[in-house]
Amino acid sequence: MRVYIETYGCQMNEYDSKLIRESLRLHGHSLVSSPERADAVVVNTCSVRERAEMRVLGRLRHLRGLAPPDAVVAVVGCVAQRLGSELFELTPVDLVVGTDGYGRLPELLRAARDERCLWTPVYRRDPYDERDAPVTAGIREFVAVMRGCDNYCTYCIVPFVRGRERSRTANSVLREVGRLTALGTKDITLLGQNVNSYRDGDADFPELLRRVAAVPGLERLRFATSHPKDLSDELIETIASTGAVCEHIHLPVQSGSDRVLASMGRSYDRERYRALVRTIRERVPDVALTTDIIVGFPGETADDYEETVSLMEEVRFDSAFMFRYSVRSGTAAADLADDVPEEEKIARLERIIELQKGITWRINEGLVGQRVEVLCEGPSQRDNDVLFGRTRQNKAVVFSGRADVGELVDVTVREASAWTLRGVVSDRSA
Ligand code: 5AD
Ligand code: SF4
Repeated sequence: MRVYIETYGCQMNEYDSKLIRESLRLHGHSLVSSPERADAVVVNTCSVRERAEMRVLGRLRHLRGLAPPDAVVAVVGCVAQRLGSELFELTPVDLVVGTDGYGRLPELLRAARDERCLWTPVYRRDPYDERDAPVTAGIREFVAVMRGCDNYCTYCIVPFVRGRERSRTANSVLREVGRLTALGTKDITLLGQNVNSYRDGDADFPELLRRVAAVPGLERLRFATSHPKDLSDELIETIASTGAVCEHIHLPVQSGSDRVLASMGRSYDRERYRALVRTIRERVPDVALTTDIIVGFPGETADDYEETVSLMEEVRFDSAFMFRYSVRSGTAAADLADDVPEEEKIARLERIIELQKGITWRINEGLVGQRVEVLCEGPSQRDNDVLFGRTRQNKAVVFSGRADVGELVDVTVREASAWTLRGVVSDRSA
């Protein structure tokens, strides 16, 4: 079959789509880049916020119209897991496959040509642990090390759609990293909903990081996401002392108000988060800190919101993903009154987006005149005359000069905006 795939949502979904592509290829299917030419359309979906989910439902209806009449339309991922057979009523789809069923897609796509199919069990072990498919590799790649989440933050649908926490074995992670580096990957991000609870026998997450960092050919190692309550001193030490581990930590704070944090079930308060940031910055001086923030959580008063604003001003994150609270049915917060009016949520969100833009811009401006190490990924997509790469802090850099794809070069920063740095390759002897 010729299969067309679209992906929505987080880095784990991007990784899962890669896994789907590999397994389809392995079973003799081919991939196509337009739904009009496809025998099957696969949409990998996100249900973390209602708007994301609505958009996917709309997109499925649209794709049904674009694809040939006899094509199979499949919905996979978090929306498939959450809504299950309800999707057959809501949208014109033929196949619904949950978050642990990607390995079965090749056979399910065939079966769905004859009749509607549903596959949504969630396993206690990582079903993709021992995957041994050949991999195609870019300069930067993701590798999942654990799946699921046991934290049950009160707003979050993830534990319901991704199941309980399950770690892959360290050996299978190392095998996958080894295959990727052999194919030319230089920068790897280890993924999990909560990587700090990784465990395989005696190996905890810092130990896994040290082992992965030692894989020959790997230049840069990152990880996401960390829960502030689980980010240990040992992990901070490991980041500080392991050359390949990049100075970049994504540490979602969600709110600056103790009242809201408690109601979110985050198990840390503002002071503990601030202390953690201080420790990280002492031990890892060049670190870039990024975060996630939700505004308009049930009961968030104007004063609670100001606490978030002041925390952002104080910590000065390098960047932040910011969201309006969205009720997810089945979560604990869905029982609380969603009492911040929508216009107020929008106003609160817009103000912190502006605030963060200014902070990011000023931090980036501070890099003008400095040399930064950039991993060259090739020509910039917007302008083929210049090159594109990222710093260890994960900042995007557009630069001129000579560099091969996959090469680490020193770039002198000449200009900065809130989104990109611009510079030139420095003469190493200078
Ligand atoms: N509403 C708004 N944002 C949410 N997130 C998770 N659940 C919700 C929700 N119900 C945000 C959190 C999380 C990020 C991935 O998405 O900030 O860290
Ligand atoms: Fe959701 Fe909280 Fe788990 Fe993150 S840690 S996935 S916010 S429940």
